[in-house]
Amino acid sequence: MPSAPSSPSPDTWWRAAAIYQLYVRSFADGDGNGIGDLPGARAHLPYLAELGIDAIWFNPWYPSPMADAGYDIADYRSIDPVFGTLADADGLILEAHALGIKIIVDVVPNHASDRHPWFTAALAAGPGSAERARFWFRPGRGDDGSLPPNNWQSIFGGPAWTRVVEPDGSLGEWYLHLFAPEQPDFNWSSPDVRREFEDVLRFWFSRGVDGIRIDSAALLCKDPTLPDVSGSELPGPAHPFMDRDEVHSIYQSWRAIADSYAGRMLIGEVWLPDAARLARYVGPGELHTVFNFPYLNCPWDAASLRQVIDQTLALNAPLGGPATWVLSNHDVDRVVSRYGRPDTSFSLDRRAYFHSLPVDLALGTQRAKAAALLTMALPGSVYIYQGEELGLGEVQDIPDELRQDPIWARTHGADPGRDGSRVPLPWAGTEPPFGFSPAGASAEPWLPQPKEWRDLTVATESAHPGSMLRLYRDALRIRRSQPAFGDSPLTWQSSASGVLAFDRDECAPGGIVRCIANLSAGPVELPQDADVLLASGPVDDGLLPPDTSVWLRIA
Ligand code: GLC
Repeated sequence: MPSAPSSPSPDTWWRAAAIYQLYVRSFADGDGNGIGDLPGARAHLPYLAELGIDAIWFNPWYPSPMADAGYDIADYRSIDPVFGTLADADGLILEAHALGIKIIVDVVPNHASDRHPWFTAALAAGPGSAERARFWFRPGRGDDGSLPPNNWQSIFGGPAWTRVVEPDGSLGEWYLHLFAPEQPDFNWSSPDVRREFEDVLRFWFSRGVDGIRIDSAALLCKDPTLPDVSGSELPGPAHPFMDRDEVHSIYQSWRAIADSYAGRMLIGEVWLPDAARLARYVGPGELHTVFNFPYLNCPWDAASLRQVIDQTLALNAPLGGPATWVLSNHDVDRVVSRYGRPDTSFSLDRRAYFHSLPVDLALGTQRAKAAALLTMALPGSVYIYQGEELGLGEVQDIPDELRQDPIWARTHGADPGRDGSRVPLPWAGTEPPFGFSPAGASAEPWLPQPKEWRDLTVATESAHPGSMLRLYRDALRIRRSQPAFGDSPLTWQSSASGVLAFDRDECAPGGIVRCIANLSAGPVELPQDADVLLASGPVDDGLLPPDTSVWLRIA
């Protein structure tokens, strides 16, 4: 395979990598209990190698009571028995490396599980103790302390405070949880907390992982006076808990740790609407990259996408951090459903509205294919959420009694939550569990799979040249083998309204690769002196149909 002249060195493998997000509980079930696990994931590593990805990001695999699907961690240095053992993780890391695949693990530093030994010790130790200083315990307001210490609301709905029963049986202090009550927030002004997480980072780097995804990365630091919020605060130094300046000193020390191991990377989950503030998390001495949520949230509209792409590249270029491109993840609606709605934008706080819209799955799928080629042609790294390569849609009709996401329960059903993007993958066969669990499994998949997924299994799509899976495989193979797709900038080409056209690397020995994405209502004429490398749909008579993208080699 030819290597790009400007391709990243082994130490900066992440700069142009294709990274697969593996949501363990829904990827593959090895032991037949209806929940995905590490032996299941390991058995399917050859599938991922064939897909052509460079790295896997594992959602949390640690011991957890699963109040938030593993984002409530009780032990940061082990594996939940439902997923396997530490030996399984070691074996998986080794085998992935042997296949040329890097491993990224998820670390959740904003909060622990309420079963974490530090939190149970804090409950037992009582008010004013050193154990409680690692979290945010405060007396309540009102004469009898029966009102929460401030008016903060949980991101999952309801108050961000829960009152505890003290060791003597009386109602006592309250503790802060920006997410579910089972996820108490750490107090990052505690030196214990800082030391603990630096050690957790070293633990996983020493075990051979190549990167760490930092959960809720902008939320760690709180104003110690815990003031009420008025709702008008912008994320930033004056906000009581979002994007405060202190957070950067944490990531500076984490970066030093990552850099002390060769080739390790840190990627932050930073949900900020302001791209300039997002960029503050990236660069020398900060994180290597952050997820590009403005791109994910962007509607299927050429001018809006062009604006996000330009802004992303302009902000990243001086920082030396590569851009990342993300179409979906385990927290948002699946992309074929989003693009099949009359409103193709997305935001976490309007999920109920989006679910109320009609979905044209065929149109959404066509657009998602076009978006895949557009995304994979952009300079930087690309994240692919499991099932995206199969074109799975958001499952919006999960029966209420089977929903698991705490968002659903805490909003009393006002927000449908994220279960619809987390349904176990269909591998083969014509009925559930579609090869997700082995024959003779003792339980059904933990969320029900739609019967229509018989047409979207890995086995079915592998056999069909026009499938999403075949497109992803072809695109990832070409992206990896074409020198033009190395670590180089893009050059926009003039194009009609509603059309995005850009070239990658004029200096590459293989020549220029041009990506044209047609988001307009009519066909677009392709240049005559060009060979089609790959198209997201049929291209006849030199015309690129609407909602279709193409990669061309320009003579
Ligand atoms: C992040 C995760 C999400 C989780 C939340 C709390 O946003 O992606 O799944 O629920 O943090 O840890």
